[in-house]
Amino acid sequence: MARAPGRVNLIGGHTDYSGGFVLPTTIDRATYVAVRRRSDERVRLYATAFDEEVSYRLAEGPPHEGWAAYAGGMADALCRRERLGSGFEAIIDGDVPLGAGLSSSAALEMATAVALDMLFADVASGGPLAPVETAQLGQQVEHEYAGVECGIMDQFAARLGRAGHALFLDCRSLSHEHVPLQLDEREAALVVTDTGVRRELAASKYNERREECQRAAAALREHTDEDIQALRDATPDMLETHGSALPEPLDRRARHVVSENARVLDAKEHLDAGDLGALGNDIFASHASLRDDYEVSSPELDALVEAARDTDGVLGARMTGGGFGGCTVTLARRPAVERFQQHARQRFAERFDEQEPTFYVIEDNVEAGMVS
Ligand code: GLA
Repeated sequence: MARAPGRVNLIGGHTDYSGGFVLPTTIDRATYVAVRRRSDERVRLYATAFDEEVSYRLAEGPPHEGWAAYAGGMADALCRRERLGSGFEAIIDGDVPLGAGLSSSAALEMATAVALDMLFADVASGGPLAPVETAQLGQQVEHEYAGVECGIMDQFAARLGRAGHALFLDCRSLSHEHVPLQLDEREAALVVTDTGVRRELAASKYNERREECQRAAAALREHTDEDIQALRDATPDMLETHGSALPEPLDRRARHVVSENARVLDAKEHLDAGDLGALGNDIFASHASLRDDYEVSSPELDALVEAARDTDGVLGARMTGGGFGGCTVTLARRPAVERFQQHARQRFAERFDEQEPTFYVIEDNVEAGMVS
């Protein structure tokens, strides 16, 4: 049995697929996958969360929808790399909230990969699958089997994230650094707040944003002599000079990515230096940029961030994940945690009738690995 955790992203929203910087941390909730071999070529997957079983022959490949696309997609990817010796059975369980922007799908992919890699350790030549390669495989699975053109952040965090640390990642070079996140010692806490809102359209909007970034990079490439492969290569000066080459809304999309990359670098310095107040300001600024320039927020997410801003002792808050629903992440001084929750509950009740947000205070974030 293996596990892999969900993640929240402290800062670096929608920068990964432009080759930019991100600063996620794993949470204290994980997906567990228990596996055993079969003597034939059949795959049987069972998810406790849905009380549902999916079964198919290895050669047929998994369904391309629902939870089985992630677990089955990963198995298929391993099979194509000759890392599966036979069919197998898997039971999937866990406590990462599903579809909430906490990367339950990446956690499922990574837990499946770790479990199967161990189960068939005698089959694969060349030793165990390297963690970075596992993350890359997960991203491909997401593209091929789930139809979401995601970046590398979620799988990378779920596979390489470390307990007690945030993960600074350059999504182009994949160089990374584990940055200590000793929240206890610093008397601060991370609160994840789930709006409870799930939007069907989120996946197609996500792919649309990714395409807008590619178009913005292509337009800048035509107007400068610089080698612009992705928005990662654009600078504030470039946007100032050639901004008119970018038709609305591409100008704002580019402005978000360029400013967000700078904020991540700034935020990492503040985290290194233990200046949580300055880190919080970057986090608030990130939300404003995602809301106004990138347009991936929602009224519910905005209300939670406003409630955080209005609470004494809260240092920063922003939406996390793809957006349009899901969760915010709030960095708060310990004594402010309870106040923030009351405030957010009240704000929600006033604006969205009966809806109640759900709070998770992240205590000990966990990391991927074998459980038994
Ligand atoms: C989703 C994707 C990630 C990333 C975030 C936004 O979680 O899976 O790759 O793009 O959205 O930062």
